[in-house]
Order: sequence, then C-alpha cells, then structure tokens
Amino acid sequence: MPTRWVIGNWKQNLLRGPAAKLASAVAAGLADATGNTRVGVAPPYLALDVTRAARGPASLTVFAQDVAAQDQGAFTGEVGPAMLRDAGVDGAIVGHSERRAHFGDTDARVARKLEAAVRGGLHTVLCVGESLEARDEQRHESVVISQLSAALGELNSSLWTDRLILAYEPVWAIGTGRTATPEQAGAMHRTIRGWLREQRGAAGADRSVLYGGSVKPGNAAALLVAGDVDGFLVGGASLDPRAFLDIVRVAAGP
Ligand code: PGA
Repeated sequence: MPTRWVIGNWKQNLLRGPAAKLASAVAAGLADATGNTRVGVAPPYLALDVTRAARGPASLTVFAQDVAAQDQGAFTGEVGPAMLRDAGVDGAIVGHSERRAHFGDTDARVARKLEAAVRGGLHTVLCVGESLEARDEQRHESVVISQLSAALGELNSSLWTDRLILAYEPVWAIGTGRTATPEQAGAMHRTIRGWLREQRGAAGADRSVLYGGSVKPGNAAALLVAGDVDGFLVGGASLDPRAFLDIVRVAAGP
C-alpha cells in the first residue's frame, strides 16, 4: 500500500513569524489527527528553519517548494539538494505548474531536478497536470503521461524508492476553487498507476500519488474514495491550520 500523505504548499506566502505560528498550530493538531498518514508542509525557503524549529517533536515533514538540479557552483540564486539537507529539510517539490508556467521549468529541467533531489536523499514530490485547453481537447492523459515519461522514464531504478511521491494537479483546478470531480481524479490516478506498473512493475507502482487543486475539507473525502488517490497536495487551504488539519483528519480516516 502506498503511504498516505497530506502536504501543504504555502507558496510565496508568510513571513518567518507567521510561518512559525502556522507550523506550530499544525504540529499541535497532529497528535490526534494523523493515524498512519504522513503530513508535510512546504514553506518559502527563508521560513524553512523556523518551520523546522516550530514543529517540535511532531512528525511534520518539511519540504522546500523547489530545488536546484545541481549541488553547488556558479548558479546564482539557486539552492541545491545538499544545501537543503544541510538545513535539515526533508524534501522538495519539483515541477509545480506555477514553476513550469512562470519560471521556465521545462520537462527536461524538472527531470534533472527530480534526479538530483532523490539522489540527494530528499522526499521528492513530482507534480504533473494538464491545462484546461488540453483537457478540453481530450489530451489530458497524453499530457500527463508525457510529463511522467520525461521526469521518470530514465530514472535509475536505485532511485525508485518510497522517497518518490507523485502529485496529479490539473492546472485548471489550482487556486481556482474548481476541483476535479472524483471521477476525473480517479480516472487520471488509475492512468498514472497503470503507467507506473507498465514501467516498473507491481512493486514500482506502489508510489504515493496525491491529488492537488482546490482541495478543501468539504471535498477531500469524495476525492479519496475516487480510488488510487493516496492523499493531497494542498495550496490555499493549507494556510488555515483548522482547514488543513480537517483535511488531514479526512485522509487519516476514522
Ligand atoms: P490550491 O493549490 O489548493 O490552492 O488549488 C494547490 C497547489 O498548487 O499545490
């Protein structure tokens, strides 16, 4: 069974003080909320350390929102996997659609970042998802498969561990309040699982595949029963500790 995860992506929000406050509110609520579900948050780079400090002994996994493809060198502005590990960060997100859309993260660059992050020992969330245009043209499955192939097709099998996490995030559902229906999410998650099985066999297909895109306490349960949904990547709702913990509780089950 894939591990169930709920991960909050705080995006470019929160200065260090409010970030620490949010992290401690989430950590405080975790004891009674998680069951076997793993919970993570992805603050901005400069709030990673205060988030780590504020989580206390709680098992809150801390992710960066991006990572460089190289550990060090003449790459102005970049932060690599070794630097994140050195700062006590547990994981990183790669290929988020906002980075693909606004910061030039091509499939090829996402593949390099993913490889470096997993090799560097980080839990690595690979985001994939189609645009509204692609969905309207019925190309959603081929878009997602081509993103998966580009990022994972050549990945050395020694790096194919449970540190590798996938997130299906239809671009048209991110920050729009418009969630994929459980049927749409379930169908895509089954497609992704099928592709993983085809590529890496039954054991290799046992990766967590999260859904993201306007997840809220009110729609989380229906998305989970859609099948093959192993948890959530949560944007807007993760900035409210009560809403985020409610989603964690839904994922953890009764
Ligand atoms: P959202 O963002 O929940 O605000 O739609 C999801 C994401 O971008 O990961």
